[in-house]
Amino acid sequence: MSNVKIAPSILSADFSKIGEETASISSQGADLIHLDVMDGVFVKNITFGPKLIKDIRKYSDKTFDAHLMIVEPWKYIERFAESGADIITVHFEACGNRLKDTLKAIKSLGVKCGAVINPDTEVREIKDVIEDCDMLLLMSVFPGFGGQSFIESVLPKISEAKKLIDSTGKDIDLEIDGGITLENVSKVKELGANVIVAGNTVFKAEDRAEVIKKLREF
Ligand code: DX5
Ligand code: ZN
Repeated sequence: MSNVKIAPSILSADFSKIGEETASISSQGADLIHLDVMDGVFVKNITFGPKLIKDIRKYSDKTFDAHLMIVEPWKYIERFAESGADIITVHFEACGNRLKDTLKAIKSLGVKCGAVINPDTEVREIKDVIEDCDMLLLMSVFPGFGGQSFIESVLPKISEAKKLIDSTGKDIDLEIDGGITLENVSKVKELGANVIVAGNTVFKAEDRAEVIKKLREF
């Protein structure tokens, strides 16, 4: 699968040297830099906001993939767009009936957009917005922390999401996030995921470049 892209999540990096970590992962084969933004309300953890993204922007020319795990994301999308994010994804669970408008607002800022659904949210919930998305992100863990185990029951949703994307005839990425390892990566790619987020699998590895290569090739 040549169109597979690897998106290491800097959530698993050492935050005390986040600039260097971003630069090194970029030179070690990352296609996207996955940025997990958490507000302590939508999820039980707090990470970082647009200021940090702006500051690390100069350490990498890769696609910055900002995954917003925050309530009322529409209040902040302008600031994330200004920070240098290339794509901003927002949760169905955080947006409810404002999802379509939020996706459109992101696009109007000249940034790509995507919808995210939690492991227990059905693919049909985002059916009406799929045409507005550049990316659909399926969570394979409940958001909040890196290093959790992949939830197997998400597997059928990958095929379902792939079918929905194919039915649009549009070039929409299907991203999977949470618990991806060298053992399960081939399965998720086989089912249709083409953007693979990996936090611990990449950052805890001895040889990060080798692991990124394997995630792409396995
Ligand atoms: C979870 C985050 C993920 C996480 C992935 O809330 O959205 O991006 O960092 O980390 P791993 O690959 O370690 O599960
Ligand atoms: Zn994420």
